[in-house]
Amino acid sequence: MAGEGHSRMTVRCRADRGCGAAALMRDGTLTVVLTFLFAATATGDGNMGTGLKDSPHDFSRKQAITVGLCTFCHTPHRAGTTRLLWNHKLPAGTYSWKDVTETSGGTAYPTIKPEWGGPTKFCLSCHDGTVAIGDIYWWSGQAPAAPLNSDRAPDVVGDAIAMPGNHPVAMPYPYDRVPSTYNGVTTGSRVRVDTYKPRPELEGIPLYTDPGNGSVRAGGTVGRAGLECSSCHDVHNGPTVQDGDLLRGKGDGLCNKCHIR
Ligand code: HEC
Ligand code: HEC
Ligand code: HEC
Ligand code: HEC
Repeated sequence: MAGEGHSRMTVRCRADRGCGAAALMRDGTLTVVLTFLFAATATGDGNMGTGLKDSPHDFSRKQAITVGLCTFCHTPHRAGTTRLLWNHKLPAGTYSWKDVTETSGGTAYPTIKPEWGGPTKFCLSCHDGTVAIGDIYWWSGQAPAAPLNSDRAPDVVGDAIAMPGNHPVAMPYPYDRVPSTYNGVTTGSRVRVDTYKPRPELEGIPLYTDPGNGSVRAGGTVGRAGLECSSCHDVHNGPTVQDGDLLRGKGDGLCNKCHIR
């Protein structure tokens, strides 16, 4: 446990990410100790797989919001979209990978348009760094007066609407080793489907189905399956999470739940 906290700290608190405690301290020993405590308490690393409460996505943690556990993502009324009753402002831009056009197997990198219904777009509404985290559609009839309770801004995985360097998401998965069409893209002809697990769901990795109109639903379907951010991360910190990054399998375990390498 302690070793894990330590190694996480070095990843998490690089100065360019503005991790407060680590950025201010320059003494090695002191930094390690303090930052481990910071990471463990502030990000809920000690609460892996135990649900939303006290997880990185529990924004009710410090502020005097007593019913805000779901609010910054979902709302029962006046949601931005009925799909997922989404409450966080969605960016209007289209995401794309700009440095390459296809994977080595020949699958085209897609665009992720505002109308895409998969979870990825909802994650990016905070993790693309363009929309303020407290920018929501509804909270007691108005936007929250105080800024959202987060220890820091979310880590950014895309550079605004550019996705280079990111593992495929909103992309087809060769479910049952059959090429899929998903988000307008079809598994490339050079993809060695025998190097992919037929049904990652059997190991706790969710896949999604795009019936063809972007109205994405949970669960894979032969010929129509795809993966999203939520295939690797559980936003709600549910029981399959084994890592402070809300990952569904630890380290190499995660990768080999889909890949056979
Ligand atoms: C940080 C954002 C965030 C918070 C906070 C959050 N959710 Fe979600 N929720 C999502 C996203 C994104 C999805 C899309 C599916 C996925 O990623 O699993 C989702 C999907 C869902 C779904 C439908 C799909 C499913 O997994 O069954 C339900 C129900 C749900 N959330 C309930 C809740 C409740 C209840 C709370 C508060 C206790 C909550 N969520 C808090 C982001 C959030
Ligand atoms: C409402 C904004 C919001 C949404 C939506 C959201 N996140 Fe986050 N997320 C955050 C913030 C803010 C943090 C950092 C919390 C902290 O440490 O104080 C975070 C933390 C994380 C972390 C933990 C690592 C870290 O940087 O602390 C992961 C992984 C993550 N989010 C992935 C996702 C994924 C995947 C989705 C969609 C399924 C998602 N998030 C949706 C705001 C959001
Ligand atoms: C193929 C699996 C996979 C997919 C898909 C994936 N992630 Fe991750 N993500 C990881 C792993 C593994 C880490 C931990 C890497 C590390 O910290 O070295 C991570 C780390 C993160 C972090 C922590 C900050 C960081 O840079 O280390 C955030 C935030 C995050 N992911 C958000 C997302 C979002 C948003 C999406 C969708 C756009 C996404 N992830 C899709 C596997 C994935
Ligand atoms: C949910 C299933 C899933 C998980 C988990 C997963 N991958 Fe992938 N990965 C895919 C799919 C699908 C592709 C795209 C295959 C294609 O069509 O070319 C892919 C592609 C790749 C590629 C090839 C990119 C290229 O240009 O050809 C690499 C490398 C890769 N993944 C590494 C990883 C690593 C490392 C992890 C663990 C952090 C991981 N994957 C986890 C499904 C997954």
